[in-house]
Amino acid sequence: MMISPEKLRNIPQLADDQFIMRPVRLSDAEDMFEYGSDEVVVQYLPWGPYRSLEEVESGIEEFFLKRPEKGLPPAYAIVWKENGKMIGTCDFHSVDQENNTGGIGFVLNRGYWNKGIMTRASKLLIEMGRNHLGFRGVTLDHRPENDTAARIAEKLGFSMKGQRDHRYMAGQESRKMVHWELVFTEN
Ligand SMILES: CC(C)(COP(=O)(O)OP(=O)(O)OC[C@H]1O[C@@H](n2cnc3c(N)ncnc32)[C@H](O)[C@@H]1OP(=O)(O)O)[C@@H](O)C(=O)NCCC(=O)NCCS
Repeated sequence: MMISPEKLRNIPQLADDQFIMRPVRLSDAEDMFEYGSDEVVVQYLPWGPYRSLEEVESGIEEFFLKRPEKGLPPAYAIVWKENGKMIGTCDFHSVDQENNTGGIGFVLNRGYWNKGIMTRASKLLIEMGRNHLGFRGVTLDHRPENDTAARIAEKLGFSMKGQRDHRYMAGQESRKMVHWELVFTEN
């Protein structure tokens, strides 16, 4: 099922006590450079480390700002309320139209790790996917070494479905990834 352009245009802003989630903007480049140039942060990701601000800006234009025209929801930037800093992203980087599910991705500035932030941000994203986009479930794929991503999937109630070859973006090499699914049951 295709997501309607109407829904993609009206993506809601999400919020927690400590952060808000709103679409990524070009002006996020400096904050994105801070975590995107950190080799520890990007070690299991299919991009980075970024070497210059220009590289981040073209990355934002290519991978984030073009999403609605590709039929994908905008990616959320997580903005820490206390200081207004953009500390990471949490998004549906892919949509499986046949199964009507969204594939989740996330990354966070290392200074904010292990406070439960991404578990909470992912919960908000998943609710939005369920209620606003009408998904029947969500999926998460991570590298086998990425135990933190596995722990988040577990905490969110996903079921592990084993390993599969997964291509994060068209044109990229496919890699062995651990595949998790969360199917929404009707209440
Ligand atoms: C993955 C990431 C976004 C997690 O963000 P976060 O806000 O720190 O996550 P949370 O605090 O909500 O949850 C992390 C959980 O993993 C656990 N954890 C942390 N490091 C771990 C490790 N090395 N091994 C196993 N578990 C670990 C934490 O203890 C916590 O679980 P708990 O609540 O049971 O204690 C962050 O680590 C990150 O940006 N990593 C690099 C990018 C990345 O790998 N993205 C995912 C690609 S699929």
